[in-house]
Amino acid sequence: MTLSGAAIRRKKTPSSDHEGPIVARPALLLAWYDRHRRVLPWRAPAGQRPDPYAVWLSEIMLQQTTVKAVGPYFHKFLARGPDVTALGRASLDDVLRMWAGLGYYSRARNLHACAVAVLRDHDGVFPYTEAGLRALPGIGPYTAAAIAAIAFDRRTMPVDGNIERVVSRLYAVEEALPQAKPVIQRLAATLLGPSRAGDSAQALMDLGASICTPKKPACSLCPLTEGCIARQRGEQEGFPKKAPKKSGELRRGAAFVVTRGDELLVRTRPAKGLLGGMTEVPGSDWRVAQDHAAALKQAPRLAGITRWQRKLGVVTHVFTHFPLELVVYTARVPARSRAPKDMRWVPIATLDGEALPNVMRKVIAHGLG
Ligand code: ADE
Repeated sequence: MTLSGAAIRRKKTPSSDHEGPIVARPALLLAWYDRHRRVLPWRAPAGQRPDPYAVWLSEIMLQQTTVKAVGPYFHKFLARGPDVTALGRASLDDVLRMWAGLGYYSRARNLHACAVAVLRDHDGVFPYTEAGLRALPGIGPYTAAAIAAIAFDRRTMPVDGNIERVVSRLYAVEEALPQAKPVIQRLAATLLGPSRAGDSAQALMDLGASICTPKKPACSLCPLTEGCIARQRGEQEGFPKKAPKKSGELRRGAAFVVTRGDELLVRTRPAKGLLGGMTEVPGSDWRVAQDHAAALKQAPRLAGITRWQRKLGVVTHVFTHFPLELVVYTARVPARSRAPKDMRWVPIATLDGEALPNVMRKVIAHGLG
């Protein structure tokens, strides 16, 4: 049996000669993790060394995406290639296609660029320091700390949203996010013991996901409940404090679903910027003050289209920086109609093989429905 919470709680810290309420939070946390850790596809079994490739791949996928949504994509990538060499040798198009549906597509481009850089500059071996990792494409401070801790057991604490919540409650951090990030980062480091940094980080992630939840946290099951200041005050749900969010203004546009028999007219978005390099149906630009007539004027020009059929309703999608509302127009063209410059016909049956972002999946379903 693992060391029980009660046993650890009774132990004194070397420097204290009086009974304090909290003695060894890092040890309490690890003891809880040893009993309750989640089984996740990228996690090594207890006591085994994790595969840095799996850790890196999962951390990139988990940026802005839930554990549940990442699972199938993680398996798909591993099935296509077991290591960074295979990924670095794949084409960017292949990687974008495999990524399609997961969102935030700059991650897929950076993933590929990172695999190429690890092959080219590091003989296919990931650097093990945070600084070395940060120098690679797509790896910011959080991801560098997560990989360094989890894959290489470097003594560092990556602070994600779950960990922010746990720590801000434990210490009742009054400053609002995002300004509170540096304070929370410093306080989070108090939960690191002398070893097992990766397990400490994953323990806090699991605690935040399963017990220290945003609403109705299960404090009676929490290994850190003693001395949790937010709990003592009965104000758990009030932390972390958050500055009011400025959400982007609604943008509007038009999308054109053109079919030629069983084929659909598509194009590839420019490589840089939002949804860079992904496949889309032709459309207008997306503007805050967009009027329908102006959007319709940006329809693709094809011989044989005399009028556009407007589909009832709109397609909505929320990007990180703005919500979007698209009006969908449809048209059919005769067999052998030529695609306009920079556009192409793809069989509707093979659309799954295209790098289609979710917003376009919705548009096409609406247009063909
Ligand atoms: N979120 C980001 N990284 C994670 C990990 N390694 N385990 C669980 N959730 C995560």
